[in-house]
Amino acid sequence: MKTYLVTGGAGFIGSNFVLYMLKKYPEIRIVNLDKLTYAGNLENLKSIEGDERHIFVQGDICDRELVSGLFEKYDFDFVINFAAESHVDRSIKNPEIFVETNVEGTVNLLQCAKLAWADGDGFVAGKKFLQVSTDEVYGSLGETGYFTETTPLCPHSPYSASKTSADLFVMAFHDTYGLPVNITRCSNNYGPYQFPEKLIPLMINNAKQHKQLPVYGDGMNVRDWLYVEDHCKAIDMVANGGRDGEVYNVGGHNERPNIFIVKKILSTLSEKLDPTIDETLIKYVEDRKGHDRRYGIDPQKIKDELGWYPETTFEVGIEKTIDWYLANTEWMERVTSGAYLEYYKEMYQNR
Ligand SMILES: NC(=O)c1ccc[n+]([C@@H]2O[C@H](COP(=O)([O-])OP(=O)(O)OC[C@H]3O[C@@H](n4cnc5c(N)ncnc54)[C@H](O)[C@@H]3O)[C@@H](O)[C@H]2O)c1
Repeated sequence: MKTYLVTGGAGFIGSNFVLYMLKKYPEIRIVNLDKLTYAGNLENLKSIEGDERHIFVQGDICDRELVSGLFEKYDFDFVINFAAESHVDRSIKNPEIFVETNVEGTVNLLQCAKLAWADGDGFVAGKKFLQVSTDEVYGSLGETGYFTETTPLCPHSPYSASKTSADLFVMAFHDTYGLPVNITRCSNNYGPYQFPEKLIPLMINNAKQHKQLPVYGDGMNVRDWLYVEDHCKAIDMVANGGRDGEVYNVGGHNERPNIFIVKKILSTLSEKLDPTIDETLIKYVEDRKGHDRRYGIDPQKIKDELGWYPETTFEVGIEKTIDWYLANTEWMERVTSGAYLEYYKEMYQNR
């Protein structure tokens, strides 16, 4: 039985990954290490409560004693590092925590893996450290062209600078010590369980309440949208089949300007929920500092080498996503009210 250390597995992508893997592989075990910051939510994992293959540990990836203790106890085959401070706006306000979690936390995990997996001059066979990174490490694109794995790293925000630093440490551990690693760099994810500070759930939540929808700048910044389940599939494929030391870009060729997304959400909600929801709710606000204009991923390498392809078109994915948020109003209310913290106490602290 393979054992995974999944960090940040109570966050948006991490929780989707844990659910995806436990559904796909009956024979694995996942230790889910998450600090439960504002972005971590145990309610995302409600459907696997009681599943003995899932062991949740509340803790910090920067904590050497805790992480090395987990390596000793569980003898991990894989580390999949999702844990991060992930919101660009927050990084502009407070860069330090991004250095702590995203850089120092990653180095701590690498160091623990290096020590636990050492075998003579090399490493025990079959181990893999997978760093979940972002296309933002490449910087911004003009009107044309795509990021490939060899595009020079050129981050602009404190968030992307911290993710880039982490990627460099991952490669340094591979090049210096031979640690078996992969890095995946993906575009913007969307789907269930995303914290409502990010574009799609924020806009759905605001529109439902007839609140204004703040759109940065002229709304023409372009992002390449990836349905979260397609991303989970890619991570699984890279963990289990990626060539050692390689970077894989993951993207769906689903480029859309932000304002297109916002208008699509409004028209869908107007149809499904309330015809008075319309574009008068849009409010253009001052642009984000250093706002990258366009991201676009070339996923040819992961397609050619591993046969990955995105199964969900944007049209289908956005429909599914909106339906999910409409069907899970309680989740949204609890996340925005902070009530899920009470849930955590009830589930774990008061026992
Ligand atoms: N969401 C996207 O569109 C996107 C795109 C590209 C890359 N990524 C990367 O994917 C990963 C997951 O993103 P997400 O959107 O799910 O993020 P998220 O903010 O929803 O979740 C992050 C999780 O990490 C946990 N965490 C934070 N600091 C921690 C620490 N010090 N120790 C342990 N756990 C900690 C949080 O509690 C939370 O559960 C991140 O590494 C992010 O950089 C995300």
